[in-house]
Amino acid sequence: MRILSGIQPSGKLHIGNYFGAMVPMLDLQHKGEPYYFIADYHSLTSVSEPDVLRANVRDAALDFLACGLDPEKAVFFRQSDVPEVNELAWILSTVCPMGLLERCHSYKDKLAKGFSPNHALFAYPVLMAADILLYDSDLVPVGKDQKQHLEVTRDLAGKINEKFGDDILKMPEPFIQESTAVVPGLDGQKMSKSYNNTLPLFGGKKALRKLVMRIPTDSTPVEDPKPTEGSIVLDLYKLFATEADYNQMIADYKAGGFGYGDFKQRLFDAYWDHFEEARARREELEQNPQLVEDVLQAGATKARAKARIVLDRVRGAVGLA
Ligand code: TYM
Repeated sequence: MRILSGIQPSGKLHIGNYFGAMVPMLDLQHKGEPYYFIADYHSLTSVSEPDVLRANVRDAALDFLACGLDPEKAVFFRQSDVPEVNELAWILSTVCPMGLLERCHSYKDKLAKGFSPNHALFAYPVLMAADILLYDSDLVPVGKDQKQHLEVTRDLAGKINEKFGDDILKMPEPFIQESTAVVPGLDGQKMSKSYNNTLPLFGGKKALRKLVMRIPTDSTPVEDPKPTEGSIVLDLYKLFATEADYNQMIADYKAGGFGYGDFKQRLFDAYWDHFEEARARREELEQNPQLVEDVLQAGATKARAKARIVLDRVRGAVGLA
């Protein structure tokens, strides 16, 4: 079973990325053949400074390795080191109706947020489909916001197979875990780099604590019971806490006598402790930038070999030399 997923290096990776995608990716790396990549072509739609993009790619690679990606198990690479993906994207474009892309929520959201509607933003899901189909992927662990892009991918694979012959492209399945499909941000909306409401995986203790303390809460007095429904602090705490600690926090909400500052401190402690080991590993890895680059280069060589096989199959089927 081939497992594939990617993350955009468009800013610091956050706990939405972590619980929604990285944790399932890391869990699955021992259950199949993982292909994991840093989607730097995709990030060109939002990052326009070359040095920032390069630094983000490096940071994303460090984050993955620190959190437990095993380069002996997973083919870990930079998307742009396999330029073949663009050729498959072009071929997929030829069977992709405009309407399919016009309906994509993420495109519409970006326009609503003031992005100017350029071609890359519009064609983004086609490149993502190519990412997936280029490696004969079976399973794609992602958060819920990518579900529609997976549907586009399946649609395009179906169109190619229908037009040019069965079994040219493998039909992938999304892997979305209900409990972490949409991790809320500090403001209660979906956590997202573009909403400025994220908790990054790594950072200085003071700065991260400040972010947690900024979470909005209501004005229930300390001594009164607090509403558990819709509490961002509680929802985030659930991601990090043991079941017993989480149940204790619910009981303390209901009992009254505890202020929100106390609950936020518990959330911060659980969040900080969760990444303690990864933080130490990341600091170590940071001392050795060549190692990170070597891992990505070795991954690219393996990914490219696989990509070539699939691309040649598609080229032959559609009538390219
Ligand atoms: P990106 O970089 O926006 O997000 C990376 C992964 O994190 C998940 N995610 C979340 N999950 C739960 N709650 C959240 N608040 C949250 N925020 C982000 C995303 O669903 C995603 O799984 N288009 C992709 C990158 C990509 C890709 C691919 C993914 C390019 N090609 C091929 C899979 C397969 C993206 O923008 O993800």
